[in-house]
Amino acid sequence: MGEVISVVNQKGGVGKSTMASILARNLAKTHRVLLIDFDGQATLTELVDLPSHFDADFLDEYRKTDSISKIFERETIEPLDITSILKDENGKSIVPINELHFIPSAGNSMSFIAESVSAGKDLMLKKFLGKIKGDYDYIVIDALPSVTTLFKNVLLASDALIIPIQTKTNAIAGANSFLKILDEVLGDYENSYKHIFVLPTMYNKQRKDDNDTLAEIMTGYMKYLKALTHLGKIPSSMLDAIPERSVFSNAQSVRYFLQDYIEGFDTGKKDILLLIEKMSNTIISTLKG
Ligand SMILES: Nc1ncnc2c1ncn2[C@@H]1O[C@H](COP(=O)(O)OP(=O)(O)OP(=O)(O)O)[C@@H](O)[C@H]1O
Ligand SMILES: [Mg+2]
Repeated sequence: MGEVISVVNQKGGVGKSTMASILARNLAKTHRVLLIDFDGQATLTELVDLPSHFDADFLDEYRKTDSISKIFERETIEPLDITSILKDENGKSIVPINELHFIPSAGNSMSFIAESVSAGKDLMLKKFLGKIKGDYDYIVIDALPSVTTLFKNVLLASDALIIPIQTKTNAIAGANSFLKILDEVLGDYENSYKHIFVLPTMYNKQRKDDNDTLAEIMTGYMKYLKALTHLGKIPSSMLDAIPERSVFSNAQSVRYFLQDYIEGFDTGKKDILLLIEKMSNTIISTLKG
């Protein structure tokens, strides 16, 4: 049964989309994975670059019938199988791939949905995923950076959360207030999670600011999380910090998943691959319990 792992933070630009794509790609090496772009900014949908891999008429039709917005009309949608886009013409891929499916963002109409989806529709994503969960081992959701009914749909559909936090000055105050909002939402719905992973990102070990913030995440922030009424009862832990490296944005700008980009074009960065492998394995083993 698919474990739903959502990457969430109300703050923009902290690496949510990047980490969601990396985690999904890594899990898909050996598992059946569904990646969902639930953000109107469509960062992951651009990364996957559907027009380069699918016929234009097919995509037009797909967007009409299978938009994520349809789930709010109680319809079931068919995820796109993007496994083959990671393989060459001989059916081989540099990085192993088992199965990766994708639900693209509804783009601009996401903000329209955000306004029109009423509070009574906060369980629609959970209901939809309930129908297709059996087809996957993991479902990774890139959430939108706002606290709307759409966002509550993500929170209520998830089995585990990953909260990326940039190791930059002043990151902690915002991160704390986001936890408070999560705690209130959970209290209202009596929802729970298997685990909450805190993921420090864009860490530059040469900078004092980054080291101070990382230390603060390890101590003050984790303590704050464990002291909250509802979130505090859920097991939580911090993952190893992801370093700030240009390879992350380089891969994104040429529309490659990071792992395929490094193995194909930038093999000097294999230390990053090892780190990601470790992160992915920690998440798998923690969720297996
Ligand atoms: N570890 C990293 N080192 C360097 N750059 C990174 C790293 N992680 C992400 N980036 C870059 O930072 C930018 C923001 O990342 P990303 O789009 O993943 O953030 P986000 O939280 O999804 O943003 P938004 O809230 O707008 O959706 C991107 O240009 C991305 O390539
Ligand atoms: Mg994003």
